[in-house]
Amino acid sequence: MAEPCDLLVTNAGELCTLAGAAPRRGRSQAEVAAVTDGAVAVREGRVLFAGPRREVERAYRGDRVLDAGGLCVTPGLVDAHTHLVWAGSREDEFAQRVAGRPYREIAQAGGGIRATVRATRAADEEALVAAARRRLGRMLDHGTTTAEVKSGYGLDTETELRQLRVVRRLAREQPVDLVPTFLGAHEFPDEYRDDREGYVRLLVEEMVPAVREAGLAEFCDAFCEEGVFDPAQTARVLEAAAAQGLAPKLHADELSPTGGAELAARLGAASADHLVATGPEGIRALARRGVVAVLLPGTSYHLGTGRYAPARAMVEAGVPVALATDCNPGSCTTESMTMVLSLACLGLRLGPSEALVAATINAACAIRREAEVGSLEPGKRADLVVWEAPNHRYLAYHFGVNLARTVIQRGVVVRGPAT
Ligand code: NIG
Ligand code: FE
Repeated sequence: MAEPCDLLVTNAGELCTLAGAAPRRGRSQAEVAAVTDGAVAVREGRVLFAGPRREVERAYRGDRVLDAGGLCVTPGLVDAHTHLVWAGSREDEFAQRVAGRPYREIAQAGGGIRATVRATRAADEEALVAAARRRLGRMLDHGTTTAEVKSGYGLDTETELRQLRVVRRLAREQPVDLVPTFLGAHEFPDEYRDDREGYVRLLVEEMVPAVREAGLAEFCDAFCEEGVFDPAQTARVLEAAAAQGLAPKLHADELSPTGGAELAARLGAASADHLVATGPEGIRALARRGVVAVLLPGTSYHLGTGRYAPARAMVEAGVPVALATDCNPGSCTTESMTMVLSLACLGLRLGPSEALVAATINAACAIRREAEVGSLEPGKRADLVVWEAPNHRYLAYHFGVNLARTVIQRGVVVRGPAT
């Protein structure tokens, strides 16, 4: 006798379960664990069983049945690096960049991150919630069900806490699952340009403890870059945060090689992100320590530099590779992880299967959520997407449009047709 379940998603032409050991590295970076003609049984928002349709249908009878119409089904996508909470926009800088002015020069002249900091400080919590809610809606439209979100456009205690409160509110009121990261070390604010030591002390002595006290973040990130936080300053901030229970993450080697990857390895960071300028030493260090590399090809695209992270060398060295949008108002404005899948193939030269692993189970590892999301395995959250695609390779191939047909979050249809 078939057991009842809340929801049966059936007739998946290709069901990519992503089941198996995590994080994936080397050859296993391409293992999507695909089942032809698959189905998923769901109870109380969790996966009971995902596998061949005949086996699932023999074991379970759904109170509700969703026919996937022979299309591709995958876990909900995991966006492991976003800066979702900000005010204003920077299309003026975009026009300058298109005309040839470098991103770094705009930043040094007071634009860039600091321009968004001014707008964000001036915005109240409601305005920030409203703006971020629209972005999250677009993420969900495109199949993202879990996202990491950083602060970092406040650069003072009050505004950083406001940004993180926005994340907490949105985590409670809309479907996308959010993982908060404190990024007070994103830039030196205008009032500390001539007292960088003073700002590092403020971070260590006041801001990190305040974030910790309010219980508003799980991770602490820092922008380790020439002209921003050097490796020694980055280490001070991240070590202070780690001592307070906030696990380290790094913006490393985005524009120039600063030793960020090596530092991430030394600190045992949850992830090292960007890594466009990382050399062989840095790659070896990440591989040795098993640090997840979060690559952001949308940023390479939007900065228009033509420089992409050495993803092939990373896969070959055994570094687990993950993907994310970097969604922010300056260097990458997209909410779409499927756009990122396409750029991962064409810019980073990941294969379509490697890219899907990077956008699901490995991305979950980068935010330490691999026990909950990133694959369709018994007990994990029933977050999944039915794609307007015959198989997962199609997702990166048909680019620039939205292919998500039905998005299910915790067993509930949150986007698209329910049958
Ligand atoms: O990840 N690198 C630093 N932070 C962002 C850019 C933020 C901005 O330009 O507003 C990034 O690329
Ligand atoms: Fe970033």
